[in-house]
Amino acid sequence: MPGRWNAARSGPVGVGMTTFGIIGAGNIGSQVARAVIAQGHEVVIANSRGPETLAALVSELGPSARAATATEAAEAAEVAVVTVPLKAYRDIPVEPLAGKIVLDTNNYYWERDGRIPELDRGEATTSGLLQQHLPASTVAKAFNHIGAAEITTTGSPAGTPGRRALATASDSDEAIAVVTDLYDQLGFDTVSVGPLSESWRVERDRPAYVIRQNADQLRANLAAAPRTI
Ligand SMILES: NC(=O)c1ccc[n+]([C@@H]2O[C@H](COP(=O)([O-])OP(=O)(O)OC[C@H]3O[C@@H](n4cnc5c(N)ncnc54)[C@H](OP(=O)(O)O)[C@@H]3O)[C@@H](O)[C@H]2O)c1
Repeated sequence: MPGRWNAARSGPVGVGMTTFGIIGAGNIGSQVARAVIAQGHEVVIANSRGPETLAALVSELGPSARAATATEAAEAAEVAVVTVPLKAYRDIPVEPLAGKIVLDTNNYYWERDGRIPELDRGEATTSGLLQQHLPASTVAKAFNHIGAAEITTTGSPAGTPGRRALATASDSDEAIAVVTDLYDQLGFDTVSVGPLSESWRVERDRPAYVIRQNADQLRANLAAAPRTI
C-alpha cells in the first residue's frame, strides 16, 4: 500500500513513500519537511497559527506538501514528527496519533519552556514526557541534537568515512528501525541510546549535543553523559 510504513516492501531502505505529519513548522519542522520531500515522501505540516500562515512554506515545498491544522497533520500522518517548543507538548493531539510512530525532536530550554521540575531533578526525559502524553503512540527521539540547517547539509552516503551519526531512543525496536532507515535516507548513521528512559544521554548540554560526530564518537559521548547538568 503506497505510503504505508513497510520495511518488507521497501527493501534495504525501509521507509517506503510515507506521509509525514509534522506538527511544528519552524526551524526543525521546515527542515525535516525539506529533507523528507527530497527523498520522495509527502508532508502534511502544521503550526499553532493555522494553515493559512504556512502558504509561503508549502509553496516552497511544492506539491508533496500541504498545510493543515495540527489535528489534520496528526490524522494524515503515517509517521508523525512533533517539533514544537517543549512547553507546548500537551497541546499535541492525542487520539489521531494513537497507534502511530511519533518522532520527537524536542529539547528542554527552561528559559523558553519554564521550569519542569522532573526534568531538573533528572527523574524524567523530554521524550518520556511526550510518551506519557501520547500513551497509545510509540515515541522515538529524533533530530534533537543536530542544528536545523545541518539536516539538509551534513548528510552523506552510507559508507562515507566519518559519516555523521545521529542518536535515537525508543521503547520500540520497530520505531528505532524506522528512525534508522529515515536517518540513512537523509545521510546519517544511527546510534540507538536504548529506551526512552536513557534518552537523557542525548539531551541538551550533554557531550553529544549538537556537535558533528561519527558513530564511534557518538557512542563515546553518550557513555560519558552525566545524568543531570
Ligand atoms: N532549532 C534547532 O536547531 C533545533 C535543533 C534540535 C531540536 N530543536 C528542538 O525542536 C523543537 C522545535 O524547534 P524549532 O527551532 O523548530 O522551533 P521554532 O522555530 O520556534 O518552531 C516551533 C514551531 O512549533 C509551532 N508550535 C508552537 N506551539 C504549537 C502548538 N501548540 N501546536 C502546534 N504547533 C505549535 C510553531 O508555530 P507558530 O509559529 O505558529 O507558533 C512553530 O511552527 C524545540 O523543542 C527545539 O528545542 C531545535
